[in-house]
Parts: sequence; structure tokens; C-alpha cells
Amino acid sequence: MIRKNPMKRILVTGGTGYIGSHTAVALLEAGLEVVLLDNLSNSYRWVADRVVQISGRQVQFAEVDLINREQLHGFFGRQEPFDGVIHFAALKAVGESVENPLLYYRNNIGGLMNLLEAMQLSGSGNLVFSSSCTVYGNPEQVPVDEACPLQPAMSPYGNTKRIAEEMIRDQVQVGKLRAVALRYFNPVGAHPSALLGELPMGIPNNLMPFIAQTAIGIRERLLVFGNDYPTPDGTAIRDYIHITDLADAHVKAIHRLLSVESPEPWEIFNLGTGKGYSVLEMINAFETVNGVKVPWQYAPRRQGDIPAIWANPAKAQQLLGWKATRNLTDMVASAWKWQMALQNR
Ligand code: UD1
Repeated sequence: MIRKNPMKRILVTGGTGYIGSHTAVALLEAGLEVVLLDNLSNSYRWVADRVVQISGRQVQFAEVDLINREQLHGFFGRQEPFDGVIHFAALKAVGESVENPLLYYRNNIGGLMNLLEAMQLSGSGNLVFSSSCTVYGNPEQVPVDEACPLQPAMSPYGNTKRIAEEMIRDQVQVGKLRAVALRYFNPVGAHPSALLGELPMGIPNNLMPFIAQTAIGIRERLLVFGNDYPTPDGTAIRDYIHITDLADAHVKAIHRLLSVESPEPWEIFNLGTGKGYSVLEMINAFETVNGVKVPWQYAPRRQGDIPAIWANPAKAQQLLGWKATRNLTDMVASAWKWQMALQNR
């Protein structure tokens, strides 16, 4: 069949979610055509309109649940094969996964299985998978590179990321797929337009949305989990990465998969800045840059948390030609601008 449209078409599952929506904008800005798929279980239809508003380009949106096999196959059956698929659609609340592991295995593993099957049937052979540094557990050495041994997962959520990587690798090994797994460190911040950002439902689990909600008065005070870690100020260290930097890396990963020069059918990249910040450093930066107060107090360590992790992002720089360019000021400023925009909605 001769395609009328020479533009590469990319399917983004979880396309109205936090990382998916920012990635959609980056793909559109890079001249790719984008189809968003989401079951809207943790996001909203209007996010797709914001993607259109920012990029000035049209996108197709499909409300499809990956665990509904019939619905998914019907969707793929109505589409031409995609040049690439970026798979974000998954559940990601660590605590919830401990309480309801089967929900996580059904969604994150069952959903991926259906997606891989539908891709195989439709002849779509390039996948970028949204993985996490959680697969490294509590590493013996920091920074961690991609060769760092994986550790048993500390939660069913973490386990789904590890199992998913293995499922994809196996599918690659039989020649049905080319794939890249991106292991994210801690994505934070929002689009500079403040039209897109993180939309935590209920009480946020993650640090940055909790800081922002505390600064604006939705939460009374932030609990800093642990002050006795073996770190300079006693609080835990993470590698926070700006969401738009993270989004750009997905465009590079898709380009690598689509380019003939890409040598390996299965590759893994860390996506971090290479620099770690403590919880107290994050609070201080947020207060100083934004001129606001974030009331906080110490609380016991949170179960399952590790003292410190940050990335060695050299492989992504070398092979993807990608490097994080936004600094901590950009991260906390955009997170605050987004929080204020949400308040005024
Ligand atoms: C968490 C998950 C990780 C997942 C990621 C998704 C755990 C153990 N890990 O990463 O698997 O991929 O979210 O976004 O849950 N903190 C506070 N007070 C708060 C919230 C957080 O002090 O109210 C601290 C935490 O103890 C941690 C740091 O802030 O040291 C970052 O926490 P968070 O944003 O939840 O990310 P991770 O725990 O690193």
C-alpha cells in the first residue's frame, strides 16, 4: 500500500498522562505524526487538546484500555501499522501496588502482553518502553550505569518494570521487535507554557507535587521521610530530571530505532542528569527560586526507600546524542508555575 502521508506515525500509549503528554508535544515538534491512546483512568481527555494547543498540530486520540484485548485489536485493525510505539500506559503508585498486586500485574504486564501481540499482528515493530531506575533497587555504587546488576524489586510496581523489560527482550530475541527501554530517574517539573504538567489524583506520593501543593496551601506541611540517611544532610538523594528533557530523549530513542544505523535490536538507557539532590536541597531550591515557604517537618523513613541513587547518563549521551539541559531552577520554577495554573483553572 502506498501511504499518502510520508510522516512517521508514532503511537503513544498513556498519551494523556504526565510523561506521555510531554513526549507527544516533543514528537510533534520534531515533525512526527502522533496518535494518543489512553484509558483515561488517571488522566483527562482535555490533555490531548492541550497537546494540540502547544504544538499547533493535530493529533488523533483513542480511548482504549490495553487490558481489553478485543478493543485493542479492533483499534490496531483500523490503523495502518505504526512506525513506532512508545508505551507509557501503566499504573505507578508504589503503595497501591503493595496493597493490590494483581491490579498491577493485570494492568502493567497484561496490558503490555496485549500490546506486543497487537504490534506483532499489525506489523508494527519498533517499541520504546518506559522503565524505571527502580530496577536497580538499592545500588552498591553510585552513579549507576546500565550494567549495574538489577536487584529483586521492592514492590509489585517495581517488579512489573523488571518483568516488562524481560518480556520485551524475549520478543526482540525472536526477531519480532526492535526496542529501547528507558530507565527514568525522578521526572519532575512541567511544560514551560504551564498548559501541561503532573496531575496527581488525591494525596501525592511523589516529592515535587507534594512540595508544590504544600507551598500553595492545599497541604499543611510536607513530611521529610528520614533524616538519618548516610548523606551529607541526612535526607535521601535522588536524580531529578526535568520532564521536557525526558520527553526529548524519547524523540531521540524513536529516531534511533527508525534509523538504519541503529545496530542493536534491544538497548537500555538511563535517563537522568547525573547529579543527585537531597530532599532538603529540593525544598530549599523550591523556596528560594519561587519566593514561597514550604512548611515541613521530619518523619520516619518511608518503607522501601533507598538512601541515594543517581544516574550515569553517559550511554544516552554517547549513543542517543541526548543530555539533560534543564537545571534545578527550571525544574522547581516550572513545577510552581504549573501548580499556580492548576489553582486558577
Ligand atoms: C518513587 C518510586 C519509584 C517510582 C517513582 C515514580 C518508591 C520507593 N519509589 O520514586 O519506584 O518509579 O516514584 O515516580 O516509592 N519524600 C519525602 N516526602 C514526601 C514524598 C517523598 O520526604 O512526601 C522523599 C522520599 O523519601 C524520597 C524522595 O523524596 O527520598 C523522592 O520521593 P518520590 O518522589 O516519591 O520518588 P522515589 O521514591 O524516588
